[in-house]
Amino acid sequence: WAPPVLALLFGYLLGSIPFGIILTRLAGAGDLRQIGSGNIGATNVLRTGRKGLAAATLLLDLVKGFAAVAIVAHVSPGDAPLAAAAAFIGHCYPVWLRFRGGKGVATLMGVVLALHWPIGLVFACVWLGLLATLRISAVAGMAAAISAPVAAAIFGRFDLVMLLIALALIVVWKHGANIERLLAGTEPRIGRRARG
Ligand code: G3P
Repeated sequence: WAPPVLALLFGYLLGSIPFGIILTRLAGAGDLRQIGSGNIGATNVLRTGRKGLAAATLLLDLVKGFAAVAIVAHVSPGDAPLAAAAAFIGHCYPVWLRFRGGKGVATLMGVVLALHWPIGLVFACVWLGLLATLRISAVAGMAAAISAPVAAAIFGRFDLVMLLIALALIVVWKHGANIERLLAGTEPRIGRRARG
């Protein structure tokens, strides 16, 4: 098999592991898809009241994206962006969940950190800064995703700009229900319950 096909498959399979669902179920905290927003990410795990589980979900969703890119980059450096896209798509559209996956923020942070760490640093600062001030996870996540292609251009990584624009658009698309709630003024802040 050609390296690009392997990079795609490996990235997708790693990215598609739904850590939020697995950890929540193992901890006996129920089915994450029946809780809060129904999303499989760390923000929704936090709505179970289990902070440690939420932190572990965030870390593992990030690490799977980072690992997919770092491992492929080690074997076949030219295929790293492909692995990045595949891991992100795996998280957002996992075959195991009938393609109904997460919103991609933590996994995107992992892949950008591995692709070019300064872009990842900008992503993390925007995300953490907005999370700390606004305490609205969706806004922090979408802004961080949008900051990634901008940061790539600033750092001269024009080869990554189109890819990161595409991934940021998917992040925004995935936050459709959050955007509706934001416009209606009903999007909950971190720690409260949400629907949709
Ligand atoms: O990363 C997901 C976050 O941005 C929104 O999650 O559960 O509030 O829809 P949630």
